Amino acid sequence: MENIVIQGGSPLVGSVESSGAKNAALPLLAAAILADGPVTFHRIPHLNDIATMTKLLVWQGAEVEYDDQNRLTIDTTRADKPEAPYDMVKTMRASSLVLGPLLARFGEARVSLPGGCAIGARPIDLHLKALEVMGAEISVEHGDVIAKAPDGLKGKRVFFDQVTVTGTENIMMAAVLADGETILENAAREPEVVNLADALRSLGAEIEGDGTGTITIQGVPSIAGGDVYTIADRIETATYLAAGLITGGDVTVTKTDPKLLDAFLARVKEAGATVEVGDDFIRCAAPERLQAVNIHTMPHPGFPTDLQAQFMAMMCVADGMSLISETIFENRFMHVQELVRMGADIQLDGHTAVVKGVDQLSGAPVMATDLRASASLVLAGVAAKGETVISRVYHIDRGYERIEEKMRSLGANIERHYI
Ligand code: EPZ
Repeated sequence: MENIVIQGGSPLVGSVESSGAKNAALPLLAAAILADGPVTFHRIPHLNDIATMTKLLVWQGAEVEYDDQNRLTIDTTRADKPEAPYDMVKTMRASSLVLGPLLARFGEARVSLPGGCAIGARPIDLHLKALEVMGAEISVEHGDVIAKAPDGLKGKRVFFDQVTVTGTENIMMAAVLADGETILENAAREPEVVNLADALRSLGAEIEGDGTGTITIQGVPSIAGGDVYTIADRIETATYLAAGLITGGDVTVTKTDPKLLDAFLARVKEAGATVEVGDDFIRCAAPERLQAVNIHTMPHPGFPTDLQAQFMAMMCVADGMSLISETIFENRFMHVQELVRMGADIQLDGHTAVVKGVDQLSGAPVMATDLRASASLVLAGVAAKGETVISRVYHIDRGYERIEEKMRSLGANIERHYI
């Protein structure tokens, strides 16, 4: 068991480097299944979720070679097991991202149906419906999705009746080797979808419209191996900027891209932060006291649901009342009660949290419940007076590379205790 122990209360000042984006790297690694040769992935973050995806690909028969901590080469030429078993999928639901590529490459796939998670049911029904439209036979047996397309997938028009990020990514990958043209309507516009499309194009896929709600893919017989580059992690970037703002400090994140965070930066400016951006850095300096701001999570380019918990932590010490509406997931307020333990004044009303800013949070023992909730507890901890002990930190390790090291470089008093 590991805890993170924080002595909070001092402003965080300095500069940290963003890692590659977890939510870009996961679909990128799955895309290796489609390639007719080795793919070298650059700027892959060293995270538990990445290790899980890599382990799954090796289990399928892929060969993996780590050049260094953030660069690896995956060759799926000899992969021969188009499956993703329960004991792997249960630890990371994004394993379902191998479904589309496996079906496109092998004409069949057996992928464990991801269970729910702390933040919601998170079904993959839209992924499955889209594959059926493209000609796959889908059944669910003993908790596994069995997908068959012995004659290959057919290019079709697919309409997502709800925006789904990994659904868009799964079907875009399946369409790369399909017969004919596939048009994805109401597609996700997240930067990670664009990163995946860029990567697939660089390997020979024909994709247009990524970043808009309509993506068109012309099926090709095969795509080659090559080099693939991961974009900066916009959620990690904003988390460190928030660490500066919540403590009255001044933090710069480098090797990132301000264009990925328009909605977040607009909100922190409204809250009184001074924001300076360049080609590859963002600097946020805190005002005397943050002003309360309302947020409403939306699909990109709206305010990211993955920053809702972190923004709430900031609003806990802002001047005034903030309304925070979570429209993407049905249960993404698990951090609220933990923040209340630290002295926050938050009332829940369905999908909206009413946050009344208090002058000071107080350190307390708290429990991480999911990845981004954990990040909000770290932010509250560095702002709070006294000691905060966060348990179940394995949640944090899924999405934040070297978080203590990066926080310490900003002046935080933060340690990991092995108990
Ligand atoms: C991706 O999850 C991200 N994960 C999530 O980040 C992120 O919160 C989410 O997109 C929304 O931006 C990865 O990219 C690996 P969705 P995903 O499909 O694709 C419903 C983090 O903290 N839905 O866009 O699973 C679903 O229940 C993680 O890094 C269906 O009903 O999210 C949700 O309410 C958390 N049926 C909504 O759509 C489906 O078939 C959006 O989900 C698919 C989705």
